[in-house]
Order: sequence, then C-alpha cells, then structure tokens
Amino acid sequence: MTQARSPILVHLIAAARPNFMKIAPLYHALARETWCEAKIVHTGQHYDPNMSDAFFRDLKLPTPHHHLEVGSGSHAAQTGGVMMAYEKVVERERPDWIVVVGDVNSTAACAMVGTKAWIPVVHLEAGLRSGDRRMPEEINRLVTDAICDVLWTPSPDADAHLIAEGVDPARIDFVGNIMIDSYEMLRPAIEASDARKRLELKPQGYAVVTLHRPSNVDDAAALGELVAQLEAVSAKLPLLFAVHPRTKKRLEEFGLAARLTANERIRLTEPLGYIEFMSVVSSACAVITDSGGVQEETTYLSIPCLTLRENTERPITVTEGSNRLVKPAELSAMVGQVLGGEWPKGRRPALWDGKAAERCSAALRRRAGIA
Ligand code: UD1
Ligand code: UDP
Repeated sequence: MTQARSPILVHLIAAARPNFMKIAPLYHALARETWCEAKIVHTGQHYDPNMSDAFFRDLKLPTPHHHLEVGSGSHAAQTGGVMMAYEKVVERERPDWIVVVGDVNSTAACAMVGTKAWIPVVHLEAGLRSGDRRMPEEINRLVTDAICDVLWTPSPDADAHLIAEGVDPARIDFVGNIMIDSYEMLRPAIEASDARKRLELKPQGYAVVTLHRPSNVDDAAALGELVAQLEAVSAKLPLLFAVHPRTKKRLEEFGLAARLTANERIRLTEPLGYIEFMSVVSSACAVITDSGGVQEETTYLSIPCLTLRENTERPITVTEGSNRLVKPAELSAMVGQVLGGEWPKGRRPALWDGKAAERCSAALRRRAGIA
C-alpha cells in the first residue's frame, strides 16, 4: 500500500466508557513509535465527567484531538450524528488508518464513514458474537466486522466466528485482550487506591453490582425483578452498586430507586473511575453484572462473576474463566455457592497478558507496509 504521508496518521475512535480502556494501551504504544502519529477522536457518546473525563485522567490519555460532541439519542440519531460529524473530520484530515473498538453505535458509524472514504479501517475486538440480534451491540458487531479491512480478535472463538462467516483469514490478527493491558498498566495505582476503605467495604466481604443492558433495565417488570433479587442477595452479602446513568434514569422512572437507597446493605454510588472501580472489584467476593468488559476483567482476576444475561459474546469467560450466566431467580442461590467456596476459579485465556497493544502496533506497522 502506498502511504500518503510519513509518519502515517492513525485515528483511534473512542465513544463510550468501555472504549477508553481499549484505546488507551494502543494510544500509548503508538505514541512511542516514530512511523505513526496517533490521534484520538472522541465521538461524545458518553459525556458525563464520570463516564468520560475520569477515564482520560486515569488512563493518562491526552485531551481528544477531535471531539464530535454527539451525545445521547435514538440509535438512528446517534449513529447518523456520529457519521455526519466524523465524515467532516475525515474529509478535512484524511487519516491513513482508522481503528474502531468494541461494539457501540459509534464503532459501526465510524467504520462506515472510513470504509466509504476508502480509508483502511481496523476493528479491535472483532469476531465476538452473542448470537442474539435483539442486542443493539450484536448488530454493531456484524456491521463493523463485515466492512472493516482488518479484524483484531481477542480470543480463538472470535476467529472461528469470522471464518464461519466467510472472512478471509488474511484479514484476521489474533492479538489478545487489550483491556487487560489497561489493568496491568494501572495495577500499581489500583493496588494503592483507598476506594474500598473510603466506601467502608471489608475485603472479600461484599459483591460489586453493575447493570446497564436495555434488556435488564429498560423494562419495568425486568428491573423490578432484579431489584427484588438484589434485595434477597443483600441479606447474605452487602452490595456495592455502581449505577450506570441509563439505569439511574430507569430506577427513578419505575419508582424503584427508593427501595435500594432504603436498604442499608446496598450501597449505591455514581459510576466509579477505572482505578477505583478495579480496586473495589479486586477485593470483592463476587461481581454481579451484565457488562461485557467486567466479565473479562473478573476472569483475568479469577473473581466469581455472575452475569445476569441469557447469552454472552464472551463465552471464553465461561469455558475458561470464572464467569457464569445466571437467571435472576437463581441469583441468590448462586451467591450462596460463591460463599460456600463452590465456584470455579478458571484460568486466564491465551494472550490475555497485558501485551496486546504491542501486538496491535506491530500488526498495524506490518499492514501499513512500513519496514
Ligand atoms: C452504550 C452502548 C453499550 C455499552 C455501554 C457502556 C450502544 C448501542 N450502547 O450503552 O454497548 O455497553 O454504552 O456503558 O452503543 N447517559 C448519560 N450520560 C452519559 C451517557 C449516557 O446520562 O454520559 C444516559 C442518557 O440518558 C442516555 C442513556 O444513558 O440516553 C444511554 O446512553 P447510550 O450511550 O445511548 O447507551 P448506553 O446504555 O450507555
Ligand atoms: N467500569 C468502571 N466504573 C464503573 C463500572 C465499570 O470503570 O463504575 C469499567 C469496567 O472496569 C470495564 C468497563 O468500565 O473496564 C466496562 O464498561 P461498561 O460495563 O460500561 O460497558 P460494556 O463492557 O458492557 O460494553
């Protein structure tokens, strides 16, 4: 491939909370190189200080080079808004490569803009499939993987999905799980954090809760059932519930927030910064979640993870790790199993080793044809 400029310009697209942990290690790895210049494009999908700025601080990222300030909206409004805003940046600056990460609306939107402008686009965290097209993220994954030039995968199941979908293996690089790089980069700060003490939690004496999937929180009956189950669990184990803004809005709208705040064994907090969050996760006896990234982090740390979902696009966290899919009605009994020491410890999947960003950097250099 002929290069437009030297060093080549690479756009790293970040939009929402889990994206920041995926671009940070790659940004730092590319910033050390002379053959490329990396710029961060923040679409603004997440914008509250504790859903965005806090992560730039913790992960030592610079102010985004471009901020599209798209904000919240319906799927079409958000996806379209990101496309219109990013297209202008692409026309003005014409990066040589674009890296999109994860599975949020901004991921698919920027992949579409880049490929239509004939700019090579890499998808970092390609090939994950829940098999559930009711999940908006599954649509974003299918669209993004179908059109990206290069697919960087975190686990062998992802390679297998892509091959089964007819992808040329030459487009795929198995690079491993880059979120683990962020954890390893910040491990000293996470271990030094006083978040657990500040939140008055005893080591191994609590579970951390996060919930934000529309299937769990956007329906009043489903969220009501989850609140009842959390109340039951809290009788056995105190809970720290870091409430996502979507969930906060729904708890208030459905009249469920007061029940949680009244429960002395359930501590509610705003979303935590990455260092504080990983600090409380590291000392937890269990994690109850529907997050994608948290399933992976708990597998890496061998912490019992109870995932309140019918499926997962990260099956390796179940087949190899400490994650299990749990129905709401089973939650309390499953927490009982954790407390009884009957939970599998699992093992770390291959290439979840804190070195994924180095492999991405080497792969990009090779694919860009730089000696
Ligand atoms: C998005 C992603 C999801 C990802 C999650 C990570 C899509 C379709 N969804 O879901 O894959 O797991 O981010 O957290 O891309 N809000 C705020 N402040 C913010 C951001 C959001 O108040 O900074 C509120 C708004 O009311 C907004 C709602 O949360 O309407 C949902 O935000 P949105 O980004 O659309 O979806 P998430 O549920 O955050
Ligand atoms: N996280 C965080 N603070 C919180 C909750 C989560 O820093 O209060 C981190 C978590 O460690 C993981 C990422 O956010 O790295 C996961 O993001 P989220 O659950 O929002 O999205 P998903 O992974 O489900 O797409």
